[in-house]
Amino acid sequence: MSRWKIKDSERLYNLTNWGADYFSINKKGNVCVHPSPHSKYAIDIRALVDDLIKRNIKPPILLRFMNVLEGRISSINRAFRNAIEEYDYPATYQTFYPIKVNQQRQVVEAIADFGKKYGLGLEVGSKPELAAAISISTGQNLPIICNGYKDTEFIATVLHATKIGYDITIVVEKLFELERIIEYSKEIGIAPKLGIRVKLSARGTGKWSTSGGDDAKFGLRISELLTAVDLLRKKGLLDNLQLLHFHIGSQITKVDKIKNALIEGTRVYAEMKKMGVNLRFLDIGGGLGVDYDGSKSSYFSSVNYNIEEYANDVVYQIKNICDEAKVPCPNLISESGRAIVAHYSVLITNILNSYTETQDPGFEEILEKPEKLAPTVRKLIDIYESIDRHSLREDYHDTAQFFQEAISLFKLGHLDLQQRAIAEWVSSRIIVKMSEILERLKNVPEELQNFQLNLRKTYFANFSLFQSIPDSWAIDQLFPIVPLQRLQQKPEVIASIADITCDSDGEITSFVGEFGKAKFLPIHRIDADEDYFIGFFLIGAYQEILGDMHNLFGDTNAVHITFNKKTNYKIDTVIKGDSISDLLKYVQHDGTEILKNIHTNLEKQVALRRITIEESSQFLQLLDRALQGYTYLGD
Ligand SMILES: Cc1ncc(COP(=O)(O)O)c(C=O)c1O
Repeated sequence: MSRWKIKDSERLYNLTNWGADYFSINKKGNVCVHPSPHSKYAIDIRALVDDLIKRNIKPPILLRFMNVLEGRISSINRAFRNAIEEYDYPATYQTFYPIKVNQQRQVVEAIADFGKKYGLGLEVGSKPELAAAISISTGQNLPIICNGYKDTEFIATVLHATKIGYDITIVVEKLFELERIIEYSKEIGIAPKLGIRVKLSARGTGKWSTSGGDDAKFGLRISELLTAVDLLRKKGLLDNLQLLHFHIGSQITKVDKIKNALIEGTRVYAEMKKMGVNLRFLDIGGGLGVDYDGSKSSYFSSVNYNIEEYANDVVYQIKNICDEAKVPCPNLISESGRAIVAHYSVLITNILNSYTETQDPGFEEILEKPEKLAPTVRKLIDIYESIDRHSLREDYHDTAQFFQEAISLFKLGHLDLQQRAIAEWVSSRIIVKMSEILERLKNVPEELQNFQLNLRKTYFANFSLFQSIPDSWAIDQLFPIVPLQRLQQKPEVIASIADITCDSDGEITSFVGEFGKAKFLPIHRIDADEDYFIGFFLIGAYQEILGDMHNLFGDTNAVHITFNKKTNYKIDTVIKGDSISDLLKYVQHDGTEILKNIHTNLEKQVALRRITIEESSQFLQLLDRALQGYTYLGD
């Protein structure tokens, strides 16, 4: 057999295909991140984690690689610049980062900073997001697009900010908003910058397809659009309507769905131009997807196009339709969020696995003297001894049947606990023996193709699925998971990854594999004293903000890292994860009150001489420390 190579691990985890050239495996067998695609420089993530632990930053840790944000913004803008050149497009392109995808201040600031040279703006959809964007925009005059449902306060804030010089386009999602905007603009004496979101018939694909289509939640129907134009004309504000917006959903997996929406949206733009509306911008929304599983397919965790193909399609389709309609081409805007932030963060955590390894119960001797055992258990032993490649299928079914029989006998009281344990043990030995035979077979019978799943172990990892990768639980989205070390060695075990919440849903059983979705993660056997880490990749979009506090597991520690030529990496910021008392506060429990209550009880126990003063103070100190500590597992 040939020796396992790093290339084999790259293939096994499909890392080259989903990594977008930001991730690789180094000679030591550790996963690395590159500051830009194909860069010769790399940060060894496993070595970085070891350094962070020495600095007393405990796992789980969210690593935010800020250079990756810069790289993604550049890739999108470069793709549009090239497409504009190639098709001789007579107008401009601008990215507006929708901050809902990841609102962390440092992230938005970094994006605003890196995006300055491309004229990047921010897109917001709520009052809190507006406040954050206005604050970040202060002093740098970043343009802002304001989507989402708006009440009078929201509208007033936008219009007052516009009056004092902020560049904000307010996008009408509902007709009643327009009436309020007109009224309030008049009241404070300003000329608003207006956009309208139109509801297209075109839909996206997958989980977010309902963001488009006639029954979509947002936007004006075509008849309402005409009413809005009429109203603006009557009020003398038609020239203020500068932007037409549509958004047919996030993570559009098929390029033809994008084309479809572009054609319809640009036709609406062209007709409005012909009606004399002074539109200058066409905002095509988000939807530029991320190839989470690296399959470049239309499966919903993937996309069947890349950034260049997306940009080419957008520019080509819009130009084509405008030329045909003989109207000037609009300046282009896209609100790509997922595509900018997905790659920049990686959650790393430790495997707590030694507990799950089944200990050998020492039943070997029993195999030599099976006479004392019940016939059903003996039948299982017979299968174990006689199994060969010709009887695989039959033995597989017989094993399942006799094992079930053993359980029924146990329930009826005809089998004792030890014999049930032997039945369980022999069955698992049969499975191991069968899998060894199957590995040597060229043609595996169809019904045994999923056979490996019988060997799947549960590896426990120190994290909460609900807090850190909620979309894996909520919508079965795939995220690549890869061991951070030992990738020059063949992973001998196949496993599911369970989190530490008390919820059976907190387990990942779908993974990115060599051939797309896999039902297990190949992983190494871990020594009892080994520190073994896995990374959850491409989790920068939506996960940080959608995460919840199930079981009161809070925000993880987060570390912002930039590449540094001299020192390899630089820690820009460390954000301490939530403490236990932080989490208790969310649910109205007060840490001080908890300590006080327990103290009162301890004093009572001391007075009754049930415990000593030392025991009382030891317990209080322990509790006090725990309340200030991390919500995740320590040593
Ligand atoms: C109006 C709007 N713009 C932009 C986005 C961001 O989409 P994506 O993250 O797919 O780029 C969304 C998200 O669904 C949205 O609703």
